[in-house]
Amino acid sequence: MALANSLAIIKCFNFMGYDTIGIATHDLQMGIPFLKELEKEASFPFLSANIVDKKSGALEFTPYTLINKGNLHIGIVGITGQLPENTENSYVIQDWQQALDKTLQQLPEDMDMLVLLSNLSHDENISIARKYQDIHIILEAGQSLNGQQLQLVDNTILTHTPKEGKYVGELKIDWQKAKTWQTEHLSHMELRNEIDRLNWFKNRIDKRGGAQEAYRQNPTALQDYNEKMQHLQRLQTELANRTEPKEDADIITYSSYQQSLHPLRPAILDEPQTTQILKNSRKTANTLRRKKDVSQRFDVYAGSDSCKSCHEFIYESYQKTSHSTAFSTLVNKADDNNPNCIFCHVTGLPERLAHIQALIPQRLQQVGCEACHGPGKQHIQNPAAHRLTQAVPETICLTCHTEDHSDDFNYTRDVGLVH
Ligand code: HEC
Ligand code: HEC
Ligand code: HEC
Ligand code: HEC
Repeated sequence: MALANSLAIIKCFNFMGYDTIGIATHDLQMGIPFLKELEKEASFPFLSANIVDKKSGALEFTPYTLINKGNLHIGIVGITGQLPENTENSYVIQDWQQALDKTLQQLPEDMDMLVLLSNLSHDENISIARKYQDIHIILEAGQSLNGQQLQLVDNTILTHTPKEGKYVGELKIDWQKAKTWQTEHLSHMELRNEIDRLNWFKNRIDKRGGAQEAYRQNPTALQDYNEKMQHLQRLQTELANRTEPKEDADIITYSSYQQSLHPLRPAILDEPQTTQILKNSRKTANTLRRKKDVSQRFDVYAGSDSCKSCHEFIYESYQKTSHSTAFSTLVNKADDNNPNCIFCHVTGLPERLAHIQALIPQRLQQVGCEACHGPGKQHIQNPAAHRLTQAVPETICLTCHTEDHSDDFNYTRDVGLVH
């Protein structure tokens, strides 16, 4: 049933033109084979650069995909958070740093933009933004996220939509060659000043024998220093990429973004094709649910052959009655698939359940012992503990021996003929 529902979602994604999806922790709940089954139906890849097989160490899914939008070459990488709880796994989730180092190396040089689909914690995503300057957008997914904040960390946008699919998130971007998001409006002068300030700071530390030496005792300060140096490098690139200012005004081609969330209100009309896909999946799910109910309903019946070993005389004598060939009667009449007939000529179907009659197992074809004595699965395992009905009442006979089908039925006369 989960598969039927999930397949419907994938079909909708296909129809909506999805380019890819990133695999998150909860997607793994049903196991890898389940996800791979779904991916077969998808017209786009499922991404994860860090789910690897325990034994072989090989990646289970595609780590990244490349797409062209307009005249942009965009790389998209997927990274998965934690393992789902309480599951036995044949796979492990690799450390993100190791996985990203490896994946980013494989990506072509001439990409215009790099997007990460991340299911890691927000803090880890911030670390990624600091460490990998080439990742321009991190689309986050995870349980702990909520709200609609968009955050700019160095040159990376971090964003997500609120939980539970109540909104569609839209991120409009105007991507410029400089590959730099517009942050504070640094004027040309300010930019130079900031670079000078950082260079002065760098020189000072260099004089003390470099950062490693200067901050030997203080790892936090060292990290801070490293971040400052990365910032310095970025500002220098930015300065180099800027067109010369006209007069004192800045004409900088920053990239810009605008995020909006669209609440999915009931008033929004359903799209006909996706509605149809979902309707069909609901139908399939219902049939599957019935099938499950039914197999459970039949489970409690053992079938007449399993009574033979202990009730041999009764069994032999029963075999001579027409109850033991009641289904064969329908087969001979080619009515064994006729829902108007089956339920009175088999065991375990007292009601007319048209949709499940075809599913009756072979051991319950014919009107068996259990049609009169009730389900015997437990009785055959422990007869003394699980007694069956001995004196089968008339009401049971009458569920099948109705006026229409058995006009001269007489309980007192016929009860002696059953075995
Ligand atoms: C699940 C339905 C069902 C139940 C319950 C049932 N029967 Fe029947 N019975 C049939 C069917 C169907 C036939 C005819 C089978 C055939 O000819 O293929 C039949 C045939 C018979 C016959 C043989 C009639 C003939 O002339 O061949 C007797 C006697 C009979 N049933 C008695 C009983 C009695 C007594 C009970 C209750 C204690 C009972 N049945 C319960 C379905 C049922
Ligand atoms: C409500 C239960 C019931 C349904 C539904 C039912 N039967 Fe029966 N059928 C019986 C019983 C009971 C007998 C035994 C009749 C008797 O001899 O008293 C029987 C007997 C028969 C017999 C053998 C006796 C005869 O009349 O020739 C045939 C053949 C038969 N049914 C075919 C069918 C077919 C075909 C259908 C579907 C169109 C059908 N039955 C639907 C209960 C049912
Ligand atoms: C059509 C209904 C019907 C079917 C089918 C049927 N029985 Fe019975 N069975 C009865 C009835 C009615 C009694 C009670 C008879 C009496 O008290 O005279 C009974 C009694 C019994 C008893 C206890 C009394 C005795 O005679 O020892 C056993 C055991 C039993 N059946 C086993 C079976 C087994 C095993 C099968 C299948 C091989 C079977 N029955 C099929 C109706 C049925
Ligand atoms: C492992 C042996 C064994 C098997 C298999 C077995 N029975 Fe019994 N059955 C017994 C024993 C023993 C009794 C007598 C229980 C007592 O009196 O303590 C009994 C009693 C019965 C009775 C009388 C009511 C009762 O519970 O005492 C019926 C009816 C019955 N069996 C039907 C069936 C049917 C129908 C099947 C097949 C689904 C079946 N039995 C399979 C051993 C068996």
